[in-house]
Amino acid sequence: MRIDVLSLFPEMFSGVFGSSILKHASESGHVAFHVTDFREYTDNKHKKVDDYPYGGGAGMVLKAQPIFDAVEALSKKSNQQPRIVMLCPQGERYNQKKAEEFAKEKHIILLCGHYEGYDERVRQFLVTDEVSIGDYVLTGGELGAMVIADSVTRLLPGVLGNDESAVTDSYSTGLLEHPHYTRPADFRGMVVPDTLLSGHHANIEEWRHFESLKRTWERRPDLLEGRTLTAKEKQWIES
Ligand code: ADE
Repeated sequence: MRIDVLSLFPEMFSGVFGSSILKHASESGHVAFHVTDFREYTDNKHKKVDDYPYGGGAGMVLKAQPIFDAVEALSKKSNQQPRIVMLCPQGERYNQKKAEEFAKEKHIILLCGHYEGYDERVRQFLVTDEVSIGDYVLTGGELGAMVIADSVTRLLPGVLGNDESAVTDSYSTGLLEHPHYTRPADFRGMVVPDTLLSGHHANIEEWRHFESLKRTWERRPDLLEGRTLTAKEKQWIES
């Protein structure tokens, strides 16, 4: 998969793309990250990327020209029609389902805005998706682009050492994850549940399922809407 980022602050990405699992995923060829400063695509000698809004008012607006030209140039870098994703607070709220959808693509272009916003023609005639990473306003789209790049890359087949971890983690199963413990079994009098020490695999699987369900019920009941619980599941949740 190819992930392009268009940003006025490309230096922000070196830490994220150059560390840990994302670094490994790109070194092993599962993903190719390319960060481009769209100021390079301006057609004016002052390299201006923004201008005053028509009709007046405070703040500046990102011009359509450098963004259209940059996206058109980067779209030719793969043989696939890319998804062109605009990061903005007005976009559709990002979630695991959207990450799974993007992970099926061969090429995505992430567009990071700043200032008051984008010229509306970018939204209307260029982008395929508008995405917000949450109901708060950031200084720019870069953190959102990092969130998307990270959550999509970890879903690519072969990126996580243990393939199962992307399938069983929170949200992919529709439930939050069950608690985890490691050695020692007794830490300052805080003990690990007996079932996990029992070596009885069926009981352990059952414990994990019920604890996932209980945690989801307590913290994110909205995720259980439309799901019918068995009598045993209800009993566990209420215990
Ligand atoms: N740019 C500014 N705020 C944002 C948000 N919440 N999500 C995505 N991009 C943004």
